[in-house]
Amino acid sequence: MSKLYSELSEIYEAMYATFIDYKEEYNFYSQILSKYNKTSVLEIGSGTGNLSKLFSENGFNYLGLDLSVEMLEIAKRKNPNNLFVEGDMRNFKLEKLVSSALITGRSISYLLKNEDVNLAFKSIHDNLEEGGLFCFDFIDANRFIPEILSGETIIHKASFRGEHYMRESTWRLNLNYGMDLIWDSKYSKETEAGYKEIGKDTETARSFTKNEMELFLAINNFDILEIIDRQTYAFPTYVMVAKKR
Ligand SMILES: C[S@@+](CC[C@H](N)C(=O)[O-])C[C@H]1O[C@@H](n2cnc3c(N)ncnc32)[C@H](O)[C@@H]1O
Repeated sequence: MSKLYSELSEIYEAMYATFIDYKEEYNFYSQILSKYNKTSVLEIGSGTGNLSKLFSENGFNYLGLDLSVEMLEIAKRKNPNNLFVEGDMRNFKLEKLVSSALITGRSISYLLKNEDVNLAFKSIHDNLEEGGLFCFDFIDANRFIPEILSGETIIHKASFRGEHYMRESTWRLNLNYGMDLIWDSKYSKETEAGYKEIGKDTETARSFTKNEMELFLAINNFDILEIIDRQTYAFPTYVMVAKKR
């Protein structure tokens, strides 16, 4: 588990609300769910619960699932009336089948081996009703990998509750399994004496090609309904919309 989702979870909470426009994120995904007549949603990798709030406020029947106890604690603190369960997307069993499953924020990048992706897609398939919707985004390897080859440091700044933060990221390729990226990041907070380091993280994230994802879905008995090209705050991504066969 990445440090960002455990000991640095409060830093995630402070910074990502600036990086990601969650209102826009909610509008984008809720429109997809509504288009396919879904009024309930399982959010896998629900993080600190930013989408949870918007889904429940807008009448969706919401359930969040995340592997990290620390992320779940923050999500529950912010959404005391919403339901969350601790679980691994590669192996979970809900009490009741759901009509849609959503993975946002490129959380699928943490499925490093093909076996992890297969296990996750199988678990999701098993927990969906007949004809259930599966929607997720992923980093597009074809566009992102050429971008990171220069090895440049990428700086993102964020402000939260009057405090100013900075993240310095560098990416390296790791081709052991798939098109993996080793992401080194340093988090700092502004003080009177300038930015002071508050945390560091190194994690591996996976990017995928569109063809790979098409194949993983086909292997796991999903039919693709749409593939949407979408630029998010730092990544070129695709959003897959699929239906349980
Ligand atoms: C990039 S964050 C995205 C969180 C949220 N969707 C958002 O957009 O803010 C990735 C989340 O996926 C969770 N995660 C990583 N691997 C997981 C797994 N195998 N099963 C469930 N959750 C996982 C992490 O704990 C983290 O909360």
